[in-house]
Parts: sequence; C-alpha cells; structure tokens
Amino acid sequence: TAAPDLAGRHVVVSAGGTREPLDPVRFLGNRSSGKQGYALARTAAARGARVTLVAANTALPDPAGVDIVRVGTAVELREAVLAAARDADAVVMAAAVADFRPAVYAAGKIKKKDGKEPEPITLVRNPDILAEVSGDRVRSGQVIVGFAAETDDVLANGRAKLKRKGCDLLVVNEVGEAKTFGSETNEAVVLGADGSETPVPHGPKEALADTVWDLVAERLA
Ligand code: C5P
Repeated sequence: TAAPDLAGRHVVVSAGGTREPLDPVRFLGNRSSGKQGYALARTAAARGARVTLVAANTALPDPAGVDIVRVGTAVELREAVLAAARDADAVVMAAAVADFRPAVYAAGKIKKKDGKEPEPITLVRNPDILAEVSGDRVRSGQVIVGFAAETDDVLANGRAKLKRKGCDLLVVNEVGEAKTFGSETNEAVVLGADGSETPVPHGPKEALADTVWDLVAERLA
C-alpha cells in the first residue's frame, strides 16, 4: 500500500475526451479512453487525497472513493474544473480537450441535399482550461499539471508548451494511432517549470500516475 503522502489534500483530475456537437446526433471527438486520468484518480485516492474526477465521455466504471463529475463538451469541462479547482491543492489536466468546436450547433439533424455539395464546417476556439487554471492560481501554492501528446520534436514542443500554458509540470508523450490511446501502458517524460526532466519508462498507466503524484507531492511539501 502507498504512503498517504496526499492525505488532507484535494486534487482535481480531468479525464477522457470532450465531444463537440454538430447536431443532435453528431460530434467532433478524439481517441482518448480516459484510462490515464482514471489511473491518476485511483492512485491519488490510494495515497490519501480527496479526489474530484471530471470525466468526459469515458466508458470506464466509476472508481471507488472519488467524487466523479461527468461532462460532455470543453465548455462543460471548464465549468466543472474551475469549480473544483477553487479549493484544490493540485489540478491535473489529463483530458483531451478539443481545441475547436463547431461555430454553429444545428438544432435538427443535418441532412444531405440531392445534387448539392455539403456545407463546410466552421470551427471556433475552445477556452484553454489548462492555461486558465495556471493563470488563475486561485489558491497559493497550487500545483498545476498538463499533458501533451506530441507526434514529433517531443521535448522541444513540450518545453514550449509548458511555458505557453504556465503550468508547473507537463507530461509529454509521443502518440500515434497505435500508441497510447486506449492502451494500458504509457511512456513519457515529465517536464518541470524548474527545468527538471523526469523520464518514465514504458509501463502501466498507474506507474506514470504515481510518478506524477511524487512530483506533485514534492512541490506541495
Ligand atoms: O494545447 P494542447 O491541446 O496540446 O495541450 C494539452 C494540455 O492542455 C492537456 O493537459 C489538456 O488537458 C489541456 N487543454 C485544455 N484546454 C484546451 C486544450 C487543452 O485544458 N482547450
């Protein structure tokens, strides 16, 4: 059993992937399964934390001993994370949040019209929740962690993203269609705003989660 080094702490974890509706039956989504976020929630609870898990469209069973808030879109996820962050010691944004959403939501199902080309889909930006939570720091000493899935120049892009977002730690992993998403395992490097670089060898998502909590606990202490 884990040492209760997060006892008395409230941590917020986002998990899964947002869905941005086009009409009542269609959405823009992504391949996130939610497994890494759930592993973070479970391991934090095992280490004594009070956990709020904000879950976007996952098919996973509710983990025992955590408060779960289910959301659909990026806008809903933002509301839930900001509300829970108000009294949180740490916020870990493991969810895959859509950068864009359709500009228009069609109240009725979009139909194909005989002999006509489809209408293009116009997108607008979603709020960047990680950047917002990092900028707010509603509670002093809060530790904010982001995730970055990169396909190339993983470390350089990760460093740039860490700066841009303003978070304390950024977990960077290399992704491809067959890598990471839906898988039980992960391999990553955790970059710190203090310049630190913590490689996490290929292994179960729980192992990566425990490394993240080690680094968070160090910064809370
Ligand atoms: O910019 P990018 O999507 O690569 O950043 C990934 C990190 O930022 C993740 O931690 C994700 O949860 C968070 N994010 C967010 N709001 C967005 C987009 C990403 O909080 N709109």
